[in-house]
Amino acid sequence: MHYAEITGWGKCIPPARITNDDIATVVDTSDEWISSRTGIKARHISHVSTAELATVAAQRALDCAGVDAEQLDLVLVATCTPSTMVANTASEVQQRLGAKGAATCDSNAACSGFLYALQMATAQIQAGMIKTAVVVAAERMLWYVNWALRDSAVLFGDGAGAVVLQASEQPLGLLASKSGCDSSDRSILHISNFGTNVNKYQTIGGSDLNFVGPEIFKRAVKGMSVACDDVLSQAQLSLDDIDVLVPHQANLRIIQSIQQRLKVDDDKVMVNIDEYGNTSAATIAIALCEAVERGMVKPGANIMSAAFGAGLTWAASYIKWGERVTPVRDSQAALPECSQTGLELIAEAVTACQQG
Ligand SMILES: CC(C)(COP(=O)(O)OP(=O)(O)OC[C@H]1O[C@@H](n2cnc3c(N)ncnc32)[C@H](O)[C@@H]1OP(=O)(O)O)[C@@H](O)C(=O)NCCC(=O)NCCS
Repeated sequence: MHYAEITGWGKCIPPARITNDDIATVVDTSDEWISSRTGIKARHISHVSTAELATVAAQRALDCAGVDAEQLDLVLVATCTPSTMVANTASEVQQRLGAKGAATCDSNAACSGFLYALQMATAQIQAGMIKTAVVVAAERMLWYVNWALRDSAVLFGDGAGAVVLQASEQPLGLLASKSGCDSSDRSILHISNFGTNVNKYQTIGGSDLNFVGPEIFKRAVKGMSVACDDVLSQAQLSLDDIDVLVPHQANLRIIQSIQQRLKVDDDKVMVNIDEYGNTSAATIAIALCEAVERGMVKPGANIMSAAFGAGLTWAASYIKWGERVTPVRDSQAALPECSQTGLELIAEAVTACQQG
């Protein structure tokens, strides 16, 4: 039996930042409302493409693992905001990394996308089909935002995270997982005016993020808790065995509800929604990376992760960490400089949305 150890981790957060007070200058909202209802205080907006965010996160993960791009057998990009549909975004990441020997694939399970992709790449390594993969989750969620819809406009952010997986004989990496989809409720969270359902010969307005927030909230808490229970029983672990919980970052109150249901202490729960908002598939990849950087992940740690998103997809994963919690080498990978503020980057979209 092969296993797929996580040997590298990296993230890419675009530098331009939009605080709640910034948003309140263009949308009828307030820092008080956003902070108290969601736990979000700021989000970052990208000045570059999804593929460029993904490439920097992936290169940092490769450097962390001490793996060269030529060693990669697979570049798997989880995203619901691809730079391009055809050719796939992963092929641009492969080109930018110089990973000439790697197969490339994009996958979309919305906010559950990173865990789904981690499961797919792990399965290929466990089956002996490949030896080395990079799984990247990269999103530009602010591209979808309609600045006239205040309920969804305040929630999202841009960013990317990545892990390198390498074949190992040690029982490490993703050891138990469960994923699923409640498609009967797929309409309560969707992007309108996007995809081949649209009549391309008619003028189509913007592509807006539509959702029924309170309904998703309830389903997210239940779905993630049930998925975690399933994974714990598969792995024959109890909650006391879990060292770190890395939940999807959609709303601090959703995270706290799951934490209460699972009875996990505060110091075991990774939270960074305050700084990044909901970066969809990228949330867990970024949060896992930061959990290691913050020292929450110790050698041999048992990590539980759970996600929920459009579809309505859901997933939970149990990850066994290896011995190394520091990078093999420093990374020089970086985004090009950004000369604009966050508010300057959204100015055109705000004007267009407000003009209807
Ligand atoms: C969206 C969400 C934060 C709303 O929180 P909530 O406590 O359920 O709030 P409600 O929807 O009941 O709205 C309460 C009030 O705030 C108002 N409101 C909504 N957005 C607002 C904003 N940005 N600023 C100020 N007021 C706002 C509403 O108009 C409503 O006003 P009313 O009571 O006068 O009608 C919460 O439901 C949530 O996080 N849901 C899941 C998010 C999600 O789907 N994420 C993506 C998938 S993972």
